[in-house]
Amino acid sequence: MDLNAITSSYRRWAPVYDGTFGKITRTGRRRATEAVNGSSGRVLEVGVGTGLSLSDYAPHLEVTGIDFSDEMLARARRKVAEEGLSQVRELRQMDARSLDFPDGHFDTVVAMYLVSVVPEPERVMSEIARVCKPGGQVIIINHFARETGLLAWIERVTAPLAGWLGWHPDFPKARILGEDALQVTEERPLGLFTFIRMQKTAAP
Ligand SMILES: C[S@@+](CC[C@H](N)C(=O)[O-])C[C@H]1O[C@@H](n2cnc3c(N)ncnc32)[C@H](O)[C@@H]1O
Repeated sequence: MDLNAITSSYRRWAPVYDGTFGKITRTGRRRATEAVNGSSGRVLEVGVGTGLSLSDYAPHLEVTGIDFSDEMLARARRKVAEEGLSQVRELRQMDARSLDFPDGHFDTVVAMYLVSVVPEPERVMSEIARVCKPGGQVIIINHFARETGLLAWIERVTAPLAGWLGWHPDFPKARILGEDALQVTEERPLGLFTFIRMQKTAAP
């Protein structure tokens, strides 16, 4: 999907996201924020969307969120203001393929339901690895393509609808595993979705 398709798709999703896709993806966000809350320091959430996770981050963290969609971000900003979420330091409009942050700036980087949406997921993973500190963690929650069974068939027949849906239902996990600086330390299923924790290799 290119950025124009993402912009128009998430402009359409923004007003209804929290009550629809946002509901069925809630468990994954909870698992991710629980995993992050045991750490400290700076957290980057890439593709923060309408900010459904923001109130679940512990108050001792310093959270930055970025998203390409102005309409999704506007909803995240409203939640931060209405709920007084002091752990959220900054919400910025940005393309995940070129993150405007220095190398090693964040202790933790989180991407939930993002990697099957972005153009060039390999480039996004490389940026995630760059802005994560050596020894820091990366948490990915996403749906990945099945090899066999009814779900695999549904993913294949719905694949041409990616532009309309706003994500690729048949996204292969291998596309996010090629980054040398990121080692998978934990992987577990979460219903339709998968939780993956990676660690950025420490500098030699
Ligand atoms: C399925 S939503 C997930 C939102 C949020 N992470 C959640 O758990 O509800 C995908 C988000 O990725 C954002 N996105 C897509 N491509 C992007 C890009 N290149 N850079 C930044 N954000 C992007 C979309 O605007 C959308 O808000």
